[in-house]
Amino acid sequence: MPSQLESLRQHSAVVADTGDIDAIARWRPQDATTNPSLLLAAAQEARFRPLVEEALERGRGAAAPTLEWLFVLFGREILKHVPGRVSTEVDARLSFDAEGSMAKARRFIELYEGAGVARGRVLIKLASTWEGIRAAEQLEREGIHCNMTLLFSFAQAAACADAGVTLISPFVGRIYDWHKAARKVDDIPIAEDPGVASVTRIYRYYKKFGYATQVMGASFRKTGQILALAGCDLLTLAPELLEKLAAAEGEVPRRLQPQDAAAQDLERIALDEKGYRWRHNEDPMAVEKLADGIRRFDADARKLEQTLLTLVAHRRAVA
Ligand code: E4P
Repeated sequence: MPSQLESLRQHSAVVADTGDIDAIARWRPQDATTNPSLLLAAAQEARFRPLVEEALERGRGAAAPTLEWLFVLFGREILKHVPGRVSTEVDARLSFDAEGSMAKARRFIELYEGAGVARGRVLIKLASTWEGIRAAEQLEREGIHCNMTLLFSFAQAAACADAGVTLISPFVGRIYDWHKAARKVDDIPIAEDPGVASVTRIYRYYKKFGYATQVMGASFRKTGQILALAGCDLLTLAPELLEKLAAAEGEVPRRLQPQDAAAQDLERIALDEKGYRWRHNEDPMAVEKLADGIRRFDADARKLEQTLLTLVAHRRAVA
């Protein structure tokens, strides 16, 4: 009997959602995703100190370049353990700044290429705001591939597909968290899980209308949510969930199928800026979670920056 993880790999590309390079080496996922919160956690670990030291050297004591280098050095190291791509996230402060997001994405690609990593192995993660989506549309034209994150509403998904982005990361767990809090319950059964339903709807819409954009379910709270989305193009999973799936035996049936999507009665929607903003705003969960997600990624990036600046000050004091 295979493990659930082995069985799941038959239906979906399994991706590791972590900055823990040792966990990536252990689980051998197809791709890996990082975000500022995950890299903040990894950068505190003594075992990854050499990467932090190298970022400090290359950043020459300045906060922004040191942070950029840290993200790129973790990404380059991660790529030694995955055959596919690593996702590196643009500063959340640029979430409403298309020009600034493009400049940051190009800078990451310049650093990656300078460090010997081809752009085809990197996905630039951008928040799925209107500005982030417009930035991604242009970056894709330049051969810089994008992963649209903090995606909670159908409007965000529809706009990302029309922009021709490489990949979207619709969140499951944060939608589930919001509805649990709103309903004041401890759990929502999988069959009624709004996070699972959101990804299912987006997957069907994309397949029905033949969008090339890949759908990667993200932000999971329990293995049942993952199993309910078996068949999604990719699923990005934290090491604890990979561990649980590897420890459980059983065949995982495929839940999402392109041919089922074709049979769905769905209407294609085209969204200009006003339409996108209106439809997204109609979904209170998505409005709150997008805003909260931007604040949280920003807060963790600032903490990381502060940690790096403290280390710079310490180095100067002992020099
Ligand atoms: C992945 O791309 C996301 O950043 C991640 O899955 C978010 O997960 P969380 O909701 O557990 O923070």
